[in-house]
Amino acid sequence: TQQPNWSPRFESGLHPHIARFNASINFDIELIEYDITGSQAHAKMLAHTGIISELEGEQLVSGLEQIRQEYRSGKFTPGVDAEDVHFAVERRLTEITGDVGKKLHTARSRNDQVGTDTRLYLRAQIEQIQRQIREFQSVLLDIAEQNVETLIPGYTHLQRAQPLSLAHHLLAYFQMLERDCQRLSDVRRRVNISPLGCGALAGTTFPIDRHYTAELLHFDAVYENSLDGVSDRDFAIEFTCAASLIMVHLSRLAEEVIFWASQEFGFVTLLDSCATGSSIMPQKKNPDVPELVRGKTGRVFGHLQALLVMMKGLPLAYNKDLQEDKEGLFDSVKTVTDCLESMTILLREGLQFRNRRLADAVCEDFSNATDVADYLATKGVPFREAYNLVGKVVKTCIATNKLLKDLTLEEWKQLHPAFEADIYQAINPLQVVAARNSYGGTGFTQVREALKNARATLNVP
Ligand code: ARG
Repeated sequence: TQQPNWSPRFESGLHPHIARFNASINFDIELIEYDITGSQAHAKMLAHTGIISELEGEQLVSGLEQIRQEYRSGKFTPGVDAEDVHFAVERRLTEITGDVGKKLHTARSRNDQVGTDTRLYLRAQIEQIQRQIREFQSVLLDIAEQNVETLIPGYTHLQRAQPLSLAHHLLAYFQMLERDCQRLSDVRRRVNISPLGCGALAGTTFPIDRHYTAELLHFDAVYENSLDGVSDRDFAIEFTCAASLIMVHLSRLAEEVIFWASQEFGFVTLLDSCATGSSIMPQKKNPDVPELVRGKTGRVFGHLQALLVMMKGLPLAYNKDLQEDKEGLFDSVKTVTDCLESMTILLREGLQFRNRRLADAVCEDFSNATDVADYLATKGVPFREAYNLVGKVVKTCIATNKLLKDLTLEEWKQLHPAFEADIYQAINPLQVVAARNSYGGTGFTQVREALKNARATLNVP
């Protein structure tokens, strides 16, 4: 057994298994710098309001700063006997400053403290992830700008549908990531509210100044209700939800890269820096990077589910269940961060689009069939009638092993007198893409406009 951290109400120590079971230090050590910063703000507030003296406040702040340095240099490594990062720091502070250190926890509870730490941590992580999203978007944009007139088959139901500008395809992901970035900004607004000063659950008898600590810690507001302040984890759930959507987007792109790299598609070549081999099949070059991104997506979804379930039956206010919020949150941050970084490297220097193969691909199918129907409709044939006629043409072509471009002008005219020689131009893949010039479409003019706007978005700080 070991000495408990709590009051003398306890006579004997914890069973070693229970001590380990109860402790969070092994993972909440991640919060240490935020815990120190939060405690420094609290100490300054205690001095500012006269709850402790100015000198005591200064001693607490510099003692805490010393712990930060000790931690950074690897000299401070609290073990399981500290229970959690909050006790660990407070205990060390008392070793450093003596009795003054024992004043730090005046008018505070670990409940408002851990909520403060977690929010400070998450706020910093959100900012980091947003920077990474911007970096990833800029790589997408670089490739897109080089490939406005590179064509790629477009699919619905994974069946050839209509050809696309490769830039347009990549810009679709740019937009998804743009929403992710905005979503994080929105989540940040609710992350950035201070629970410090809510106490254990009911507030405190001391004349504290919650707005003062909030300002020192750059929070935008304070929780209005102390019970809500110490037991709210909406912000963690919202973040994990936003993180899940980022993973959805990365995973969808990963899935495309995986089949683009297959021999069947052959749209991209994986470069050695981001591909892996097989222990038995010497010819193999595997897309492990996008596969891992796709695979890791489930972890984040799982954390979201775990957080929701953790919360749903909790009575007010703090319950130890809430300690379970951390590992999932930390792992979500790490997973999203790692995957964003990996996909950025993969796209920037790990794969090459095979433009020749892409150009051939869009000539080998019936993805210009809609354009034949559109051609007739433009000449006054009701669209549904034109659609049915082209359906029949496609059927005959398949039976005779021909493509639409193989039909002679005579054959076209037999199908419908409205066909003229310009039908060949209309079904040429480049023209097929260029013609889709409706707002937000894949037409080159639209895509160039979209690229300009995307660039402008990135340049906004
Ligand atoms: N380690 C705890 C957590 O992460 C800190 C708060 C503990 N509060 C308490 N009343 N036991 O939730």
